[in-house]
Amino acid sequence: MPESPISFARGAPAPELVPAQELADCAHAVAQRDGDRVFAYGPGGGYGPLREWVAERHGVAPARVVLTVGGLQGFVFYAAEQLARTPGRVLVEAPTYDRPLKILARDGVEIVALQMDDEGLDPEALGAELQSRDEKPSFLYSIPTFQNPSGRTLSAERRERLVEVVREHGLAVLEDDPYGLVRFEGDPEASLLDLEGGQLVTYTSSFSKTVAPGVRSGYFVLPEADAPAFEERAVSTYISPPFLPQAVVHEFIVRGNFEPNLSHVRSELQARRDAMLTALDANAPGGVSWSHPAGGYFVWLELDGADAKALAADAEREGVAFIPGPGFFAAGSGGGTASARFAYSYETPERITEGVERVMRLLG
Ligand SMILES: Cc1ncc(COP(=O)(O)O)c(C=O)c1O
Repeated sequence: MPESPISFARGAPAPELVPAQELADCAHAVAQRDGDRVFAYGPGGGYGPLREWVAERHGVAPARVVLTVGGLQGFVFYAAEQLARTPGRVLVEAPTYDRPLKILARDGVEIVALQMDDEGLDPEALGAELQSRDEKPSFLYSIPTFQNPSGRTLSAERRERLVEVVREHGLAVLEDDPYGLVRFEGDPEASLLDLEGGQLVTYTSSFSKTVAPGVRSGYFVLPEADAPAFEERAVSTYISPPFLPQAVVHEFIVRGNFEPNLSHVRSELQARRDAMLTALDANAPGGVSWSHPAGGYFVWLELDGADAKALAADAEREGVAFIPGPGFFAAGSGGGTASARFAYSYETPERITEGVERVMRLLG
């Protein structure tokens, strides 16, 4: 049997990081115990007990929480709702998560990319963009913690400053935070939601990285005034979400599995991150640099001018996959040609070391 390709492309947990047996047991228990509710239509905002748990964690009323079919589905609702309310350009980080870029481009939305560095989005670049045009943007989409694709985290000072700028301009913000709990070291940063108070900032996360992506359970914490319209989008799209997986997540939590599982996921991913950084230190040619994430799934590489797409094609022949930088910039912007995203979430430390050695050899 030929060896399977080593994937740094998949921003997904390795199968051994998913607690499948326990989830199966939870599914059986909730289907038997709460079948009347989980197999019926119900509220568009999702399974009540999970909604209440999320609301309590964030210190908000359950009516402000809407459970979605993963975070990305919620992004679609949020963008549609926000663009209808305030038509205009959407501000994003450069680079940013590729799927929202594709969704916005498909819908013909103007995308404006804002500069970021090792400390995350530059609030002064945001301020300058807001000053540069009279029309208000529709919203800012930001991933402040362990960003996809860069692994970078917005510093505490910048969070404060960003919130000041946002308040000054009355700018709506979508804070996307699926990786925040997957922290290996250091203290958690305050969310933009907490700093701003939830008037302008909508917060989203999901259970994809903390429980399993296949439960397709995400959530939104919305400004009070926006929650009913957002929930109505859910109702008019799928009537109500699938309650069984949401109830499974809730059962997993009430059995006391959430925190121990998260500790396991964190330590496994930390070992994978360490393997990637160590292999880069040992093998990357001078001039190549990379981010040092304190959590999440991704390392971002600056390839010292090397063509990332050509490198990805060569790496594929060597049995290693990764995503070249341009995919994380608005199409036609010319960004990311000499950058790459390496995900360490899917492979074992041994295969990560081997994969990094193979790609770096191509650069040397
Ligand atoms: C930044 C970010 N947001 C949202 C998602 C979507 O996650 P899900 O739809 O599984 O909740 C991802 C998935 O990789 C992501 O990286």
